[in-house]
Formats: sequence, structure tokens, C-alpha cells
Amino acid sequence: MCGIVGYVGSKDAQEIIIDCLKRLEYRGYDSAGIAMISDGSISLKKSVGEISVLESIMGNMEGNLGIAHTRWATHGKPTEKNAHPFLDCVGKIAIVHNGILTNYMDLREQLVKEGHEFASETDSEVFAHLIEKSAGDSLMSEVLAALSKVEGSYAIAVIKNDNEEIIVARNESPLVIGIGHRENFVASDVTALLKYTNEFVHLQDKEVARITANSVEIFDLAGNSIQRESKRISWSVEDAERSGYPHFMLKEIFEQPQAIHESLLGRLEGQEDELPFFYSRVGSVKIVGCGTSYHAGLVGKYIIEELSKVPTTCQISSEYRYSPITESKPLVVCITQSGETADTLAAAREARKRGCKTIAITNVLGSAITREVDTVIYTRAGPEIGVAATKTFVTQLIALYLLALRVAGGRNAITSEHRREIISSMRNLPRLAQNVLNDAERIHTLAKKYKDAHSMFFIGRHINYPTSLEGALKTKEISYIHGEGYPAGELKHGPLALLSCDTPVIAICVRDHTYEKMLGNVREVAARDAPVLAVGIEGDIDLDKFAEDVFLVPEVEPLFSPIPIIIALQLFSYYLALERGCPIDKPRNIAKTVTVE
Ligand code: AGP
Repeated sequence: MCGIVGYVGSKDAQEIIIDCLKRLEYRGYDSAGIAMISDGSISLKKSVGEISVLESIMGNMEGNLGIAHTRWATHGKPTEKNAHPFLDCVGKIAIVHNGILTNYMDLREQLVKEGHEFASETDSEVFAHLIEKSAGDSLMSEVLAALSKVEGSYAIAVIKNDNEEIIVARNESPLVIGIGHRENFVASDVTALLKYTNEFVHLQDKEVARITANSVEIFDLAGNSIQRESKRISWSVEDAERSGYPHFMLKEIFEQPQAIHESLLGRLEGQEDELPFFYSRVGSVKIVGCGTSYHAGLVGKYIIEELSKVPTTCQISSEYRYSPITESKPLVVCITQSGETADTLAAAREARKRGCKTIAITNVLGSAITREVDTVIYTRAGPEIGVAATKTFVTQLIALYLLALRVAGGRNAITSEHRREIISSMRNLPRLAQNVLNDAERIHTLAKKYKDAHSMFFIGRHINYPTSLEGALKTKEISYIHGEGYPAGELKHGPLALLSCDTPVIAICVRDHTYEKMLGNVREVAARDAPVLAVGIEGDIDLDKFAEDVFLVPEVEPLFSPIPIIIALQLFSYYLALERGCPIDKPRNIAKTVTVE
């Protein structure tokens, strides 16, 4: 998704802005640009491709105030003329915009009739001309007038040639203001600014801010002043850097023992203060999320039903709003690591409209989802930069175990002895995760063997059916090998037709009540000459008999088995991608945070 950066202060703005822009690269982009104010005029540079291309053409742009943008093409191709920032007709105003303006065609038509000349095919450019047209007594009033005309989502940053301020606004697209000492910053997310500050003001929907080197003032769209305290974020700049790892994805996979530990800290043995007691009285639970977060929700269904016996369903966020109301006000759990995914925000709003109590499971303090729900469980994974979700998935599962325990406790659904056992297993999870990581080289060797496959199946049953979906998603998005997650029992109902000696099958075989059936599925697959890589549990001596390769994770309760197994599959997809030379942290066509529906 597009990224916005802005700086106003006394330092060399170009250097800071480009540094921050690079820290947003992980969001995905196809062009970039920067606008700076110097000596009462705006200088502008844009280019297609990586930020390094922009650096090579921009030279030394002087000034202490500027804005920049990385664009992920939606309206109009990824060309230089469609790259942000955009200027008004006379080059006095520059804007950058994230989001989608739904009424831009009408606005553009009208502006063209009035004589405005457009340089791009984008929806965003209308902002520059609307602000120019407003011609008010301050840049703030001009931006407010422009905002009153647009419909859709936006995060914008605006500068004017003779002003020492940045005006920003947001509606359904993320934007944070970083507070410095005699300097202030703007960015699409906090990780871009951690090198410069830990203090942030989170702009909310339909709010505008005027930012100078020494002040931040917030207003609503009618121009009324709003008071907002800044928040300190504990993440450090090192958390958002690669620290010697070749890729963020690998670093984040290896951070999982710590992320699990942090996410459990102070939350076991009845200290789950974040969860109000009334949640334990729910009649049913509905979980919503997208992509990996949806897969966490699918695992969550099994966890919640097993521990609390509360009927639980899980739905893809973008489908939730179209589904009929069949349950009477379930507790709705919205899972989103970024807290900014448009589909999940829309689902949270819909749940409230339906009168449901809502919980968010998110990794980002102050993110948009936290304002759409009644309660938040934070996952404490630290910043996740790699586009592929890894440590946030595992910590989402931790949040779901905690939620399930709380719901179960409130309904007396588990005995205190069972609860003690569960807690003791949870305390063991960081060690378990570490043990899988210690075997990374063995997984690397397996990945080398399977790297040339065009298509793979990932199969599992019960709680590890969603693990298979997540393993397949990781493989698809990172290594570009087509990965298909399937409930093992379904293969014979169609997909077996696709199997051959060129179609490896990754079979998750956990020693639970599905084990014998899984062995049957492995035999069924092997009989079609498809090579089987079985992922099983330490001590299993049977898998070897049917599978071509076996990877064993440490002994674990079946309920917790998705954690070590997904870590193994994350490593597998990482090494597949590495061997295939894929751009692991920035896979083609996808973005870390998807802020459009
Ligand atoms: C998975 O690796 C992806 N990053 C993607 O599926 C992601 O989980 C999805 O877009 C939802 O994001 P969220 O958790 O920030 O809402």
C-alpha cells in the first residue's frame, strides 16, 4: 500500500524524509516521489521503481520541510506522471494521498471545465486542484474546503510554497504524527519514524492537523479544535531493523519465542485484566479477519470450542457484512495485526451496527480497529515489517488461547486442574518454538529438494486444517509456488486428480484423534506417486514408512500443535523463496497493510 512521509523542522528534510520513506518500503510500491519547500518555491522529483531510482535523480534538494510518497498503483498505471506528489496548476501546492476518492470523476470533470489542468490519471490529483480552487485565508481553511467536497478514503499531507507547515487529514487510511524536539513528522505508520521519535499522535477518521516545527493542532472537519494526548510506543528502532538477518521475514520468524513470551507476560493465572468479565457470558462467538488473520481465527474456532464449549464460527471480513444475521448477537472478535485493514474495520462497524459486543486482536497500539471495538487484546509481537505475517500470526493464536481460557473460566467449562495443565503448556510454548527454530537447517535442506515444484498441496485435519491453509498461503505469497491448503479428508472428493510425481504434498500428522485418518491420507497420496513431506510430532516412527520425507516438531499437546507446525512451515516457505531467488520481504503485487475494501 502507498506510504506517506513528511518532515518539518530545522534539519535537512530530504535526508530524513528519504530515510523514513525507505522504512515504509515493506508496504509495497511501484513509484516514489518527494516535494520540498525551499526559498518560497516547491521543488518536485518523482520516479518509477525503487526509492534508489528516486535518489539517483533527485540531487540535493534543499529545505527543512517536505513530503514524500510511495505509490502502489490503483487509479492509473505506475508511471512517473501518476507518481505522487501532485501540484496544483501554478505549482504552489503539493499533495500526497493514500486511499481512494470515490467521486473523483465528477470532481475532475468539474475542475477541468473550470480550467484546471491535470497532469495524471489519478484520483489523488483532484486534491491539489480543489485546494487551489478554495483560495481561502489559510492553507488549513483551503484543505477543509477541499475535504468537504470529496467522498472516499484518504490520508493526505499538503504543503504550500510560502508556508512553514504541513496540513494532514485522514479518513479510513492510516496516518500518524511523530512528535520531536523542535521538529515534527508525519508517516503512514510508526515504524517509519522510530529512529526519530517514540512519541506519537494518532490522527482519527475525519480529523485534520496543522503541523509546524513546534506545534501540532488537531481539528475536526468543521474546524473545531480537538485535544489529543500523544502516546509513547515502546518499540525501538532496532525492532524495526533487520539486525543482521538477510530478511525481515527470517528475523521475525526467529523472534517468535520472545514474541510468545511477551504476549503471555502477566496474562496467565487470572490476570487477563484486558478482558471484561461480561465476555465470558457470551452465547456464541464469531471471528472475522483477512488472510493470515482469518487463518488464526479458524484455529481460534477450535481453541474456543474445545476449551469453553461456546459455539464459534469464523468468517472472512469482507464476507461478513453480506451474511444474514443467524445467531443472536455473538461476541465478534476482529483479528487484524495492523489494525488498519479496511475489510476488517468495516466488519467491526457492521458488528456494532448489529448490536454485538466486539473485541479486537491487534498488534498496533492506537490503530484504527482499537476505536471500532469495545475491548482490545494486544499481541505484543513488536513491529512486523516482512509482508508475510509470521510472528503476528503466532501471537494472535496466543491471544485466542487467552480469550478461550477467559470465556471457559467464566462459564466453569474447564476444571481447575485442566486449566493448570493448559497454563503449564502455554508457559512451555516459547521453548517449543525455539526448538523448531534450532532445526532450521534441516528445513532448509528439505526446501532445496522441493524448490522446483510448480504446485504443492498442504493437508491437515481438525485444528491443523487451518494450519495447512496458512502454510499454503505463506508458500504462495513468498515463493510464488502455487500452494493449496486442503482438509485431508477432502482430497478424494476432487483434488486427487491433480496429484502426480510433480506435486509434493505437505501432510500435517499430529497424534490426535485424526492421526489414523491422516496416515490413510498419506498412503492415498503416496499411491498416486506424489512425494509426501510429513510434518509430525517427535517420537513418531510410523510416518517414515509412508512419507518420502519427515520433519518432526517437539512433543506438544494437540491443542497447541499449530504453533510449532506453522513455525516449521514458515521456515519451509522462507527457504523455498530463498532458493528460488524471490524478493522475500516485498513479494510482487501484495501489500503489508490493505487499506482498501
Ligand atoms: C499474510 O502473510 C498477509 N500479510 C495477509 O494475508 C494479511 O494477514 C492480511 O492482509 C490481513 O492483514 P491484517 O492482519 O493486518 O488485518
